[in-house]
This record gives sequence, C-alpha cells and structure tokens, in this order.
Amino acid sequence: MLSGKNILLGITGGIAAYKTTFLVRILIKAGANVKVVLTESASSFVSPLTLATLSKNPALTAFVKQEGEVTDWNNHVDLGLWADIMIIAPATANTMSKMASGATDNLLLAVYLSAKCPVFFAPAMDLDMFKHPANKKSIDTLLSYGNIMIPATSGELASGLHGEGRMAEPEDIVAFIKKYLLEGLSLKDKKVLITAGPTHEAIDPVRFIGNHSTGQMGYELAMAAAKLGAQVLLVSGPTNLSISHDLITRINVISADEMYEVAHEHFENCDIAIAAAAVADYRPKMVADQKIKKKEKNLTLELVKNKDILLSLGERKTKQFLVGFALETENELENAKGKLERKHLDAIVLNSLNDKGAGFASNTNKITFLDKNSQIKAFQLKTKADVAKDILNEIIIRLNA
Ligand code: CTP
Repeated sequence: MLSGKNILLGITGGIAAYKTTFLVRILIKAGANVKVVLTESASSFVSPLTLATLSKNPALTAFVKQEGEVTDWNNHVDLGLWADIMIIAPATANTMSKMASGATDNLLLAVYLSAKCPVFFAPAMDLDMFKHPANKKSIDTLLSYGNIMIPATSGELASGLHGEGRMAEPEDIVAFIKKYLLEGLSLKDKKVLITAGPTHEAIDPVRFIGNHSTGQMGYELAMAAAKLGAQVLLVSGPTNLSISHDLITRINVISADEMYEVAHEHFENCDIAIAAAAVADYRPKMVADQKIKKKEKNLTLELVKNKDILLSLGERKTKQFLVGFALETENELENAKGKLERKHLDAIVLNSLNDKGAGFASNTNKITFLDKNSQIKAFQLKTKADVAKDILNEIIIRLNA
C-alpha cells in the first residue's frame, strides 16, 4: 500500500528518535520513497548519516546547505509538496506546541506548514509532560487542523517511570497509517476473486495444451483492486508474472480443473468475481503416465470438454457481482451478449482480436464494457493497467447505484 508513496519523516528531539531508523527501514522495505528532516536536537539522538543511508536520501537538518564553496538552501516548499504523507515521529511537546502556534524556527516546522498532504504525528514524552494541559491543548489544536495522531502508548518511559507517553512502535506506526489510507478507498472491505492467465492441460508428463495468454490483464486487475483497498484472491494459471501487495493473495494452479476447484472454494465469500483467465475449453481425455514416444506416424488425441468455471459461478451467484471476459474474432457484441446471458453475469468485458493492440501478449487492450441492463460503453486503446482501472470503475459505479 505504501509502494511508490513519497513519505516525509520529520524527527524531533526525544529519545524515541532512535526508533526512527527502524521506521525508515520498514517504509523503504514497503517500497516507499523516504526523505528525512530532523530538528537539530533530534540529530543528537540519531545520526543523520544513519538516516541518509537507510532512506537513500540526504537527511536534512538546516535551511542552508553548504557544499564546498556553494551555498544553497533546502527548499521547504518543494519538500512539503513532494510528500504524499508526512509523519512526525517522535513529536515532542516542544515541536507540537510550535506546530500548533505556527512557529517556523527550523526546517522541519517550515516543511510542516508547507505540506498539503495528510500529516501524522506520534507524540513521545514523559507521562507528566504528556498529561500537562498545555500539551493536551497543542494536541487538540493539531487535531483541529486535521492532523492525525498516532496515539502514544503506556509503558516504561526513558525516565524509568511508567505511564502514557511512549511513542508507538515503528511497526504500529506503519500499520496505523496503512489502516488510515485504507479507510478512504472505494473497495475497502470488499473481497475480490480474480482468475488470470492460461491453463495448461497435460498430455503426458512433459507436454500440455495451452494458449498464448500471459495473464497480464488479470494481474493488472488484481493490482488495481488492491490499490482501491480490496482484499484480492488471485487464482493464477501458469505465467511468468510476479505480483506483490499486502492485500493480494495468489494461488497458483495449472489446469482448468484446479482453477475450477479453487475459484469455487472462495466464491461464496467474495463480493466481486472477475474471470479474466483464458481457460482451456478442452483437455486430453487420457493423460499418459510416461512421455509419449514418437513411434506412430500419426497421433490422435481425444479431447473432452472442461467445466466452464464462469458458467458454474454464475449458477451459484448470490450477492456477488460477476464479471466475465469475451475474446472474440467475429460478431463480437452479439457473442459477448450471449455469454453474459448464458453465464448469468452482471457484466462482460469484450475485447476483439480485430482491434489492433487488443488481446494476448500486448501491453495494451481495447475493451467494451457491457452490463446486464444492456448498457454498453466502449473505451479507447489503453495500457492494461489503465483498462483495469476503467473496469473496476464501471463495477464500482454499478455497486454504488
Ligand atoms: N471461462 C471459464 N471457464 C471456461 C471457459 C471460459 O471460466 N472453461 C471464462 C473466461 O475466463 C471468460 C469467459 O468465460 O471470462 C469467456 O471465455 P471465452 O473463452 O471467451 O468463451 P467461452 O465461454 O469459452 O466460449 P467460446 O470459447 O466458445 O467463445
């Protein structure tokens, strides 16, 4: 969820500052771009060099930077605008009171006032300071500005006393922020089942019947749905693709039969199911135990029909919004409508092999979205990532209607 996000970490002068090295590592591991700004007193608790090394960016403490004979300044406005999220951790009583009053006597405070993004702050101080009405007033003021507090916890404090005022642990700070980001997303709490890729139908231990599907459309749908906050189960046939997101669980299958089993096992609990897989329609009736030798001049394989996964899901459908794909070469709209009705779908995504840039083995796709109420929307040729967003958008519009 934090992958690709620009996160500005502001560190102020409290003993909990040492924990921010772990925080930076977790954020970097989650794929975020991290820049660090420290107050001068924070740099007594944690080294800017450590933070620069971990964040892969200079850790800044002052407005003015001197490189040899060149004097330059660290642009607080650019930094504030760069950030998608600002975290101030630890937030000392002193810094919170300055944030509340609008003081800007250091770089961190100037960046804070320039930031337009959500600002999280994680208070940390001794229990009596924490309880003081002046401090409570600062916190209330910051909350009234729309800043988001990551609550301090109770426990042993640096003074040796026990009480409220410990900075939340780095893992908890990250979990808190992820949860917050999830709240505003349109597919939050929705479970999405996606089938993707081809299926391979074994002939013998080394051969199979397959097709040219790369799985990319299904994988883009999985990523787009996860970015909208959905819990995604990706049932994938054999592909070379990889995917990584906290909200995506991938189950690998090989054959149509396996895909059928896994899809049915998880269908009941899902809210949206999208069948993007290019499932083999037929499989060899007999799978040879040993590699078939080329003894005969001709070899005939008898094929039997695979179960239609989507058709079967359509028959079991209760609350689910069910979407299929139709890859057609002729009578496209008519064939797609026929599949939509026959398989009891809520919508179908049509792509025609007659459209340049559509179909398998291409980064792009050109789709027409048809729903069960005969609404038809044709889209331009787009990247599969953008097509995935369009498809989900059409689904969300219908779910909210
Ligand atoms: N599908 C499926 N299980 C199958 C075959 C297809 O779940 N055994 C799904 C696909 O994932 C797709 C939709 O059904 O969402 C349509 O697939 P397509 O191959 O275009 O159509 P078919 O129904 O197989 O019909 P035909 O091959 O005759 O066009």
